[in-house]
Amino acid sequence: MINDTEELVKKTMKGDPGHDWFHADRVRKLALYIAKKENADLLIVELAALLHDIADHKFHNGDEDAGNRVATKWLNRFKLDPSIVKEIAYIIKEVSFKGAKVKSKMKTIEGMVVRDADKLDALGAIGIARTFSFGGHFGVPMYLPEIKPILHSSFAQYKKLSASTVNHFYEKLLLLKDQMHTKTGKRLAQKRHRFTEAYLRRFLTEWKG
Ligand code: ADP
Ligand code: NI
Repeated sequence: MINDTEELVKKTMKGDPGHDWFHADRVRKLALYIAKKENADLLIVELAALLHDIADHKFHNGDEDAGNRVATKWLNRFKLDPSIVKEIAYIIKEVSFKGAKVKSKMKTIEGMVVRDADKLDALGAIGIARTFSFGGHFGVPMYLPEIKPILHSSFAQYKKLSASTVNHFYEKLLLLKDQMHTKTGKRLAQKRHRFTEAYLRRFLTEWKG
């Protein structure tokens, strides 16, 4: 089941370089590491991590249910206990960052583990690379000094692209360390957060020429 799911993810996630098979694989590895420390169910965590971006709303005309619909249909072929499929669909629905002032509603430990793993991949060297890659993919300017970041209070507002990729650091990346759910996630986020901050300071210094 895991092997078949890996194949599906490899085949399906070809959108943007930051949301590809390698993102799913990194999130799976991070999630399993955290899950072992936090005593979460490893099967639910691994499947949810692999499938969490299988049909991301950003690449499906804003459809917020595409991911859990595709995952549910996929998992039903394995005759898993329906409660497991429901739990994975719930995780996929709740995993996304929804804006600076919108709190995560994730209720289960497995979901918290997968969400923390996904957010770790948005931080540090990889997180920075993914953010500029995303900006390039959608034609977002790197930095517009005149336009201030917005701390969004609804998902609808956040869903509109950031005015610049640097603004996205303030609108999301630098807020993630305080949104971590698990003790292990919080610990892992610290170093990545500091690296992200240091990078941004350097970027703004070099910007001045
Ligand atoms: P999540 O997977 O945490 O719900 P997203 O799928 O919205 O978050 O974003 C994943 C990554 O894609 C972000 O961490 C960032 O690297 C990049 N990204 C998303 N939205 C933007 C944006 N508006 N500008 C630049 N990068 C973005
Ligand atoms: Ni993701």
